[in-house]
Parts: sequence; structure tokens; C-alpha cells
Amino acid sequence: MAVNLRGRNMVSVKDFSAEEILQVLKTAETLKLEISRGQRHDLLAGKTLAMIFQKPSLRTRVSFEAGMTRLGGHAIYLAPTDISLGKRETTEDIALVLSRYCDIIMARVFGHDIVEDLARHATVPVINGLSDREHPCQILADLQTIQEKKGCITGLNAVYSGDGNNVAHSLMYGAALLGMNLTVVTPPGYEPDQEILAESKSIAEATGCEIGVSNDLMESCRGADVIYTDVWASMGQEAEADDRRKFFMPYQVNMKLLEVADADCIIMHCLPAHYDEEITYDISRTPNSVIFDQAENRMHAQNALMVLIGS
Ligand code: CP
Ligand code: NVA
Repeated sequence: MAVNLRGRNMVSVKDFSAEEILQVLKTAETLKLEISRGQRHDLLAGKTLAMIFQKPSLRTRVSFEAGMTRLGGHAIYLAPTDISLGKRETTEDIALVLSRYCDIIMARVFGHDIVEDLARHATVPVINGLSDREHPCQILADLQTIQEKKGCITGLNAVYSGDGNNVAHSLMYGAALLGMNLTVVTPPGYEPDQEILAESKSIAEATGCEIGVSNDLMESCRGADVIYTDVWASMGQEAEADDRRKFFMPYQVNMKLLEVADADCIIMHCLPAHYDEEITYDISRTPNSVIFDQAENRMHAQNALMVLIGS
């Protein structure tokens, strides 16, 4: 029987069980197919999504807004200066007020505690649209993309190269829950959060896969089915970008990796990309690259999530 996700928050990937994530992916696949056939939906007719942004965005803003339009609902964009979260008004009051007008709240924030606070106080579902600690919507879209391109997720060998950041953290939880082996390769000192590593390792033990860390990219990519990267300096770390470039250059995802990875290895990036830093332009345009499928699937995965938690 299908799992019931009505009213649930997604603040972290680990808020959902493997079965629940698979339900989102299955719904996303169906909605994607129906949209590609031109089918119109009114699954979220009359519903309103509030979108709080403390940071810039292309994909998150547009995929949520376009998704809401396609499902018959409406989205309201709240720019960083519109509500000045935590300055003009408390997070608690914002959550309580938005819950009186809207059916779902999505928030892109700096501190993960802010989206946790929103979820604690809101009486409608809250979705994390990226925090400094996690990016769960991205990983739902990525898992959908992996499933589409590789035909499975469980048992694959994935490598994430770069900064042990929000995307890496959510990927670790997602991989662990769905039984995909994952090595997170970073320069020394930029490893993922130790608590998240320990938690994902313990989830992985139960699902029969391995989550590990390494500083050796070439070795980790031998036979890899998936190679994933993200920017070296995330939003909010711009001042560190020049320093980081020196340490991160050996972790660039480039054509050399395709020589050691599986021939059908997929190359992933959540975007925005800084070409010829964390990923070369040439590898991003090979048939192995699925970066624009990931971007498209943001909308389908989020549509599925909103339909399941909000209707
Ligand atoms: N991948 C992603 O979240 O992109 P945006 O920052 O453009 O929303
Ligand atoms: N790690 C990046 C992801 C952008 C989608 C950031 O937080 O800026």
C-alpha cells in the first residue's frame, strides 16, 4: 500500500524512510510522464506555496513556481529583503502567519536551525529549499535522475568530489537510505560533518551499503557508476573562494576520470557550475553528463513531494 505523507515536513533527507523516498520518486516519474504528454493537473488547485529566500536561486525558485503553476496552484516569492527573516520578525511569527495564508512553506536559508524552527512552528508542511547543512530537494531530483539513467539506485558505486557541504550531506543520507555505495572525496580539512558521516554509516549498515570518505579522487573513481560534484565555495562562503581554489584543484571532475570510471558512468552537478573549477566544461557536455536532467527533475521531484505532503 502507498505510504501516506500528508502533512509531513522535509527538512532533512533523513526525515523520510527509504520507502517514503521511493514513493516520492515513483510519483515524480508518473507526473513527469504525464506532463511530457501535455496532461494538465489540478492536484494542487487552490493551494498556495510560500517561498522564503535568504539566498539567491535559479532552479529552486523557478522549479517550485513553475511546478505549482503546472499543478494548478500558486507560489509566492518572498525575497531576502521582503521579510528580513529574524530581523524584522521572528522565525516563529513568520511560520505562524504564513500558515494562516498558505498550504506549504518552502525556505532557502543560511542556518539549518532556521528551517527547523519554521517546521516546528508552522502548522503546514515545511520544505527545506537548501540550508547550510542540507539540500534535500536536490537529492530527491538526483535520485530520480540516477534511477532514470541507471535503472536502479541500490548497489551502485557513487563518488562525490569536492566540498563536504550541504549537497554532500543530503547525498550521504539519500545514498545510505537507498543502499547506494558512496565515497565522499574532499581535500583534507573539508570532509563532511562527522555527525552526518556517523549517522549515514549507521543507516548504510542497515541497508547493506558503504558510505566512506577519502582524499584520493582517481582511486575512488575506479569503476564508479556515478561521479558528482558541486561548487567549492557555497553561498555565504564567497570570501573563501580564492583560498579554496588552491586546495580543491586536484578534486576537479574532468575527462581523466572517465578513463577510470565505468564506461556508462554518469556525471552529476547540482548547478550552478563554475566551469573549469569543480567541473570542466568539456566533461559537462559529454553524453555521460546528466546535469540538465537533474535540473529538470528538480521540478518533477518537488511536484511529487508537494502533491504527497500537501494534498
Ligand atoms: N541547484 C540549485 O539549488 O540551484 P539554485 O541555487 O539555482 O536554486
Ligand atoms: N553547495 C551549494 C549548492 C548550490 C545549489 C551552495 O550552498 O551554494
